[in-house]
Amino acid sequence: MKFLVTGSAGFIGFHLTRRLLGERHEVLGFDGMTPYYDVSLKQARNAILCESQNYRFVEAMLEDKAALDEAYESFQPEVVVHLAAQAGVRYGLEHPDLYISANVVGTFNLLEAARAHQPRHLLIASTSSVYGGNEEVPFAEAERTDFPVSLYAATKKACEAMSHSYAHLWKIPTTCFRFFTVYGSWGRPDMALYKFVDLIERGEPIEIYGMGRMRRAATFVGDLVEGILRLADAVPEEGKPVAVPNGRDSLSTVAPWRAVNIGGGEPVPLLEFVETIERHLGKDAQKIMLPMQKGDVVETYADPALLQALTGYVPKTTIDETVREFVEWFREYRRT
Ligand SMILES: NC(=O)c1ccc[n+]([C@@H]2O[C@H](COP(=O)([O-])OP(=O)(O)OC[C@H]3O[C@@H](n4cnc5c(N)ncnc54)[C@H](O)[C@@H]3O)[C@@H](O)[C@H]2O)c1
Repeated sequence: MKFLVTGSAGFIGFHLTRRLLGERHEVLGFDGMTPYYDVSLKQARNAILCESQNYRFVEAMLEDKAALDEAYESFQPEVVVHLAAQAGVRYGLEHPDLYISANVVGTFNLLEAARAHQPRHLLIASTSSVYGGNEEVPFAEAERTDFPVSLYAATKKACEAMSHSYAHLWKIPTTCFRFFTVYGSWGRPDMALYKFVDLIERGEPIEIYGMGRMRRAATFVGDLVEGILRLADAVPEEGKPVAVPNGRDSLSTVAPWRAVNIGGGEPVPLLEFVETIERHLGKDAQKIMLPMQKGDVVETYADPALLQALTGYVPKTTIDETVREFVEWFREYRRT
């Protein structure tokens, strides 16, 4: 099949595209190579993808509507996986404009392209951050997501809402997946696993927010990609809303649209996560304990019942295996 993957040079886009190419699909990657973090990491990922004859790459911004339309029209994708976004919660405190332009305007441009050339299935990355300050865990899809506590979450909620209206008006089958913290090789330097491994390796102190009490369930990127691919095959149908298992409310939409958590597993306290890293690195961390930061939430983990009902799949890789895989990659990457 023909897949358009936006954000293909990003962490998740790279893993998804590599798997698609491995399965002999054709992929058009679209990425603006933004300088949010080290661009050479994006270039290194993209260089690996470019080794495949089935991969074409367009370097352009989502905000460049003409470039997006041209890429879309010339490739005519059957499935679109929209991962490009300004990610990160804390960066939004200093750079709010980037979130509006990439996530709101960029996603609007993508929806317009999908309206003009309807894909079989449009899949859009959302985030567990849309659950805001909800204290009822695990997070289930039917819970309210009306009270975001970061601009990042607000813009992702906007992506969900805009895509619902397009699914309803223009009958575009759409799945919004809510990712929970995702880790693995080729990961993002702004995320805790990369930062901690890097600093501990260099013998520098690490900052632990929320006094180490924050708890996160990390999803291994290989499991996430498996979930995305299974969901890509489970195309939502108009007039057939999927009952959300365990939902205290039900999703009442009749549009061919759904939001699905991709996550699973028990949340791990931050201090236990750090101990796992120390064990795999064979080095102790110097810890600076700090209070919670604006926009952070104490605990996030997914109720995977809907994912399981739709695909028969729940991510299973443990945090121990995830950290081991990452540390092996990190040391190898640093050597080259
Ligand atoms: N990694 C996680 O833990 C996580 C958790 C929840 C949600 N998500 C979401 O998953 C998606 C992928 O995340 P990731 O971790 O791979 O992030 P990433 O930053 O590594 O990848 C995003 C890619 O999009 C590109 N991009 C950003 N803005 C763009 C724009 N305006 N135009 C064109 N390209 C642009 C970047 O250059 C980058 O390569 C994002 O939508 C993110 O919000 C990620």
